[in-house]
Amino acid sequence: MFEGPFNTSIFKRAIERKLVSVDIHNIRSYTHDKHNTVDDYPYGGGAGMLLKPEPIFEAVEAIKPEAGGVPIILLTPQGRLFSQQIALELSKYNRLILICGRYEGVDERVRSYLVTDEVSIGDYVLAGGELAAMVVAEAVVRLLPGVLGSEVSPLDDSHVAGLLEYPQYTRPAVYGGWSVPEVLLSGNHAQIEEWRHEQAILRTLERRPELIDKAGLSEEERKLANKLKQS
Ligand code: ADE
Repeated sequence: MFEGPFNTSIFKRAIERKLVSVDIHNIRSYTHDKHNTVDDYPYGGGAGMLLKPEPIFEAVEAIKPEAGGVPIILLTPQGRLFSQQIALELSKYNRLILICGRYEGVDERVRSYLVTDEVSIGDYVLAGGELAAMVVAEAVVRLLPGVLGSEVSPLDDSHVAGLLEYPQYTRPAVYGGWSVPEVLLSGNHAQIEEWRHEQAILRTLERRPELIDKAGLSEEERKLANKLKQS
C-alpha cells in the first residue's frame, strides 16, 4: 500500500536526496505463532476484531524510539484533528513513528502505555490508518528544508497564514474568452501583492468563514475583511 506514494514525486526525490528516510514495518513480523496472528476478539464481546497489543509493542520496541523524544503517533479517527499547524509541529522532530490501526480498533493498552499522540485526518472512518499515515507523512515531509526546492515556499500555502490561498493563473492570458485579471499582467508588484492579499481574505470569507477569526488578522486586515464582507 505504501509503495506507490513513497516511490513517486516529492517522496521519491526527498528519499533519493537523503532528506528523509521511510521505513515500513509489518507488525506480522513481530508475532510468534504459526499464523502470525495480529488480531483477536474483544473481551466482553461485540462485533469485529481488535489489533493485539504484543506485535505493536514489540515492533515499536524493535525500532528503538528511546533514543530521544520520538513521537509515537497512532492514526485513529479518535485523534486530534490533523492540520497544517500540526504538520508544522511534527516537521520539527527528526524522527516520527506512525502506527496504523486496522480492523475495528486497537487494544486500549496501546493507547494508554505506548503511543504519545493520536491523530485523525478528518471526521470520517477509513478502513485503516495507512492512508492517514501517508497523508500525515506527505504534509510533514514537504515542509522539511530542501524538499520543495528553493523556488517554492511552503509558507505561501493555504492554511499557513490561516487564510486560503489567492487565485492563480498561468498562460494563456485569454483562454476560451476568459481573461486573467488585469492587475496580474500589470507588472506592478505592490498592486499585485495587495490584490492577492485581498483575494485571500475574500476567498476565506466565502469558503471558510470560520477560519477568519483564527487567522490573526491585523487591525487593517480586519477592516478590509469587514469591507469585503459588506460588498
Ligand atoms: N483510521 C481510520 N480512520 C481514520 C481517520 N479518519 N484518521 C486517522 N486514522 C484513521
